[in-house]
Amino acid sequence: MKALILSGGTGSRLRPFTHSTAKQLLPVANKPVLTHCLENIRDAGVTEAAVVVGTHAAEISQVVGDGSAFGLDLTYLHQDSPRGLAHCVQLAADFLGDDDFVMYLADNVFADGIAKAAHAFAAEPSDALLLVQPVADPRAYGVAETDADGRVHRLVEKPAEPATDLAVLGVYFFTSRIHRAVAGLRPSARGELEITDAIQRLADDGAVVRAEHYDGYWKDTGKPEDLLDCNRALLGRLPGPAVHGDVDAASTVSGPVVIEPGARVRGSHLVGPLVIAAGSTVTDCTVGPYVAVSRDCVLRESAIADSILLEGAAVDGVPALDHSIIGRWARIGRSAAGHQLLVGDHANAEVAA
Ligand code: G1P
Repeated sequence: MKALILSGGTGSRLRPFTHSTAKQLLPVANKPVLTHCLENIRDAGVTEAAVVVGTHAAEISQVVGDGSAFGLDLTYLHQDSPRGLAHCVQLAADFLGDDDFVMYLADNVFADGIAKAAHAFAAEPSDALLLVQPVADPRAYGVAETDADGRVHRLVEKPAEPATDLAVLGVYFFTSRIHRAVAGLRPSARGELEITDAIQRLADDGAVVRAEHYDGYWKDTGKPEDLLDCNRALLGRLPGPAVHGDVDAASTVSGPVVIEPGARVRGSHLVGPLVIAAGSTVTDCTVGPYVAVSRDCVLRESAIADSILLEGAAVDGVPALDHSIIGRWARIGRSAAGHQLLVGDHANAEVAA
């Protein structure tokens, strides 16, 4: 089996971060979302994968390279603009040939891997196996209608009035029969070639389309609150403390706290779960729970909870930073009078009332 990894798209709901990087490279629990994806694909026994990339192709290839660091052999395919998931299958037709493949939307996190689903696809032959999970608001997803034995008979993309609460998740297993179904598709109302339309065609043609409940943690990290939710979930799975950095005697550490070698903590209270990456310094702060601090951050005289700090971020003299994502090399400080904000394009800042 091969893999088709979809890592294009504009990530408009994750601006301003996606002005300078791909949404799939944003970190949760200090690891890019795309890295979680590549590890899951490798752990499902796949070695050959194509990555569809768009505007942020250069950043993506800089981070994952030829895939060898993940045990994968990666081929890059360029998509000129986001023309839909089924368009990506068309682009990859030569690469995929007659092989079965798993199509993985690289902004989706499957914290419990996809090996079990890959096994199910191999064990009980079908032309498509979809992963589904009940969600509170199915209107944001492809929605599946299934019969008692898990056969899918109807799929609707982002229905205004969903018939079920079963969202189609961002991992799909296909045989080569999908290539005929994506050929000749017409763009949907949102102007994209929808994979849901192609799968509906398969089902209408009598192909076996099955849905499998994913019983692990799944999140489409398309919006800031989803990234934070995912960060909490993955940090919540840290096995226990691993303090390898330099923590002085004036600091306290409780719960699952991971401090990488090369991080420095002085006079601070760390409440896990949290991770602090190499090169970061934390001085006179209270940090946690649920905080992921990337490399080379500088935190001083601040209290930070439930947040993601990207590489090089600085927080200085901020008494209660909560539920926040701070971009690369961004700085939040204290001003003598009033709030002074330099807020980037499409950014969102909320100050305490
Ligand atoms: C895409 C699919 C949708 C699926 C979702 C899962 O939506 O079109 O059917 O439920 O991924 O994350 P998008 O994220 O492109 O809006």
